Formats: sequence, C-alpha cells, structure tokens
Amino acid sequence: MRRPVVAGNWKMHGMRAENARLVEALIEGADDASCEVVICPPFVYLWETGRQLKDTTIALGAQSVCAEVQGAFTGEVSAAMLKDAGCRYAIVGHSERRQLYYEDDALVARKFVAAQAAGLVPILCVGETLEERDRGVTEDVIGRQLDAVIAVAGVTALARAIVAYEPVWAIGTGKTATPDQAQAAHAFIRGRVAARDANIGGGLRLLYGGSVKAANAAELFGKPDVDGGLVGGASLKADEFLRICAAAT
Ligand code: 13P
Repeated sequence: MRRPVVAGNWKMHGMRAENARLVEALIEGADDASCEVVICPPFVYLWETGRQLKDTTIALGAQSVCAEVQGAFTGEVSAAMLKDAGCRYAIVGHSERRQLYYEDDALVARKFVAAQAAGLVPILCVGETLEERDRGVTEDVIGRQLDAVIAVAGVTALARAIVAYEPVWAIGTGKTATPDQAQAAHAFIRGRVAARDANIGGGLRLLYGGSVKAANAAELFGKPDVDGGLVGGASLKADEFLRICAAAT
C-alpha cells in the first residue's frame, strides 16, 4: 500500500506574516490527515516555517537544491544545509528550473544524488511541453528524464524518492491533465521503473502536478497510479489545500 502524499510548492510566493498564518491554518486542519502533507516554502523561510511545523505531522521540503556539496557557489544552497534547516524533501527538476534556469537532465540527476546523499528525499519532476505532447513524444521525454536519473543514481535510489508527473502545459494554466491522461503517464513511469525492478516500481509514489484544485483532486487521485499531488497555486490557500489533502486520504 502506497501512502498518499500531497506536497505544496509555494514557488516564489508569500512573506513572513502571511506564511505564518497559512501554516497555522494548515497545522490546525492537517493534523488528522492520513495522507502525508509536505510544504515547500522559499529557501529564506524554511527555517522559520520548519520551527512552526515542529511536532506536527506536516513535513518541510525545499523547492530546489544545489548539486555541489559545498564551496564557492554563490547563491546556492546545499542539501546538507537544507537537511540542517529541517527539510525532509527537496524538489529536483521542476520544469520552471529546467526551462527558466537551464537545468538539464544531467544536472537534475546530480541534484537528485546530492539530495539523497544528505538524507533528503528527492521529489523528481518530469513532464512534457505542449509542443512535445502534440508531436506525440510525451513518453520519450518522460522516459529520457527518468532514465537520466536512473543512469546516475541507480534504480534502487528510487526506493527513497518520489516522482512527480507535471505536464508543463498544465502548470499554472488552469488546464489540468484529464484523469485518464495523468493515469496513462503515471502507468508509463511506473512501468518504466518496474521493468528494472518490479518491487521498486510497484512501491514508487507518483504525484500528479498541474493545476490541481479541490474541485479536480478526488478524480485525479482516484486513478490507480496517482498517489497524490504536487500543488502550486492552490497550496497558497489553506482551505483549498486542506480539501486537496482530504481528497488524497
Ligand atoms: P500549479 O498547481 O499552480 O499549476 O503548479 C503546479 C506545480 O508546478 C507544482 O510544482
């Protein structure tokens, strides 16, 4: 049985006072959620949010991580620092990092390895653009993104990771993949991993991300290979996010 996960990726939103109110409301509402709840604030707020989450069931995650261990890498944050600040998870390979900050498959794989080496659980994002979907190469793209990590980290590393399918065309657009489209991509990912190791493929938790809302969460999470969600915009509203969490349990 795969325990469902709902992770909120705040992206570059929120300031101290509103973060504190949002987290307080989440703590009140999520304590009895039987899914695992994760929130991923901007780096600068991790410490403070982490302190607020202490002794609660909500876990802390980072939105990215540096591939290097330490040294002269101005502006970067290492996996060990994130762990030290209380993170359990780190998102790697988010499409915004891939597209806007030119992170390629090789760098994403190194970030994945760096996160695990420091004891973090990577949430590896994969997903195709609209142009790639229209060209019919969705599986090629997702397969390539996944294989790049497996090649470097090994398939067994996926036993300590989460994979998020985030079709780029569905992120922040209000367009959601249909439950059947999400299921097809998730089944493909699980199959790709299971072909190398059936146990790891079977146990891998796969999140859907891309305009998840309270109104569509239950239908998406109802699919057999959708084990929860990676939520952007809707994770900034406590009520909405808690309803999404409830849909996953
Ligand atoms: P939205 O839920 O705002 O579409 O964002 C999804 C996402 O990118 C989560 O990482």
